[in-house]
Amino acid sequence: MKPDPSHFNLLARLLHWSMAVLILTMLFVGVIMVASLTLRPVLIDLHRPLGIAILLLALVRLGNRLSHRAPPLPADLPALQKFAAVASHWVLYALMLAMPLIGWAMLSAGGYPVVMFGSVHLPAIVPHSPGLYAPLRAAHGLLAYLLFATVLVHLSAALYHAWVRRDGVFPAMARGPRRERP
Ligand code: HEM
Repeated sequence: MKPDPSHFNLLARLLHWSMAVLILTMLFVGVIMVASLTLRPVLIDLHRPLGIAILLLALVRLGNRLSHRAPPLPADLPALQKFAAVASHWVLYALMLAMPLIGWAMLSAGGYPVVMFGSVHLPAIVPHSPGLYAPLRAAHGLLAYLLFATVLVHLSAALYHAWVRRDGVFPAMARGPRRERP
């Protein structure tokens, strides 16, 4: 059997850092666009295609994660922290997929066009139904809070590994393995 990898593969690292920027941007764009009437039109035009891009990238990322082993967590990490790490990672995957799908479904249920750019529209994924729009709209807002909270926990844990434990967890995602000098 192959030894455990010491680092995440290049695709996983590229997707991790680019999606971190995209998701944080989306959370702020979402909050500002529902608060500002002036910025709403331009931000909502950005929000829809960026959200669908996150959905596509999350699918590629999930495929890569399921087909490649991740570096193991340090053996001396307390069981509760190991559980929290694994659970929060899967919550993040679930939200990266659920948030865009709910946004898309919500516009479909509201009977709004799902505009990407110009005349490029996506088809509705649920039937037009005001009764369905309301819970989807509420779920999109509530899950955004959960996503933001999970991102903050994830960031705190990453910094704890990088600055306090210094146990190799942070470099496993920040860079590739160093080449041995001959
Ligand atoms: C990772 C992806 C996404 C994130 C993180 C996200 C985040 C947010 C946030 C934080 C809000 C403000 C919620 C509130 O204050 O109640 C919001 C609103 C909204 N989102 Fe998303 N969203 C995502 C994907 C999408 C997608 C793909 C669509 C549509 C194709 C979409 C459509 C909307 C709409 C239309 C609103 C405003 C609704 C209103 O003003 O009533 N979102 N989103």
